[in-house]
Amino acid sequence: MNKEALRDISYGMYIITSQRNEEKVGCVVNTVTQLTSENVLISVCINKENYTNQIIKQTKKFAINILNEKTDPNLIRTFGFQSSKEIDKFADCEYEEINDLPVISNQCNGYILCEVINVVDAETHDLFLARVIDMKKVSKENPMTYKYYHEVIKGRAPKKAPTYEEENPSEEETWVCDVCGYVHKGPLPKGFICPICGMDESHFQKKRKKKDRSSSKIEKNA
Ligand SMILES: Cc1cc2nc3c(=O)[nH]c(=O)nc-3n(C[C@H](O)[C@H](O)[C@H](O)COP(=O)(O)O)c2cc1C
Repeated sequence: MNKEALRDISYGMYIITSQRNEEKVGCVVNTVTQLTSENVLISVCINKENYTNQIIKQTKKFAINILNEKTDPNLIRTFGFQSSKEIDKFADCEYEEINDLPVISNQCNGYILCEVINVVDAETHDLFLARVIDMKKVSKENPMTYKYYHEVIKGRAPKKAPTYEEENPSEEETWVCDVCGYVHKGPLPKGFICPICGMDESHFQKKRKKKDRSSSKIEKNA
């Protein structure tokens, strides 16, 4: 099955945050949808392996932080490519606590606070259905779309995102950042710096396809 049609589904870009006692967690998602308009219900789809999923299942509360085109891409690197199980994602990020939820208001267009009313099993993921309990718009910047993230910031989705795609096997040469997963197509220019996480060229691994294109080999950049 050719999955090309899936690329025409539109999404926004968000950071879902939650808090259990003093422990603050969060992850980047693109799968937020408004379901109803009166007594607003919202859904978000989160991988079962994401630590944020575990905390939301326990606390039954989360905040949706709506990213905009001015949001620092480093915030996406921290919240989208690392786990709250291993690092404190809030250590270098400004936030405020509202209703016992960490809200990243200065980098976002606004926030929506939610209470989970149901969790639907979606195989690798859980679909959280939630009631909106409060919200605020704090900026008039353009909200960041998934298309903008891919085409302007040139980022990609990691394996745990529902929209993760394997690399196109017809590409001859690609270089992959081993910190954030950013993919550079074509030869890597000297002194190249990752546009997402700022790492230098030593963090790029070359994915070289064999001539018959049936398999590929990964090589560390010297
Ligand atoms: C552009 C982008 C979109 C993503 N969308 C989702 C998503 O919709 N659902 C999901 O579970 N993970 C998504 N992810 C992946 C999580 O953000 C990532 O696995 C994160 O490291 C999980 O952190 P945690 O373990 O602290 O929860 C996305 C990541 C990026 C960069």
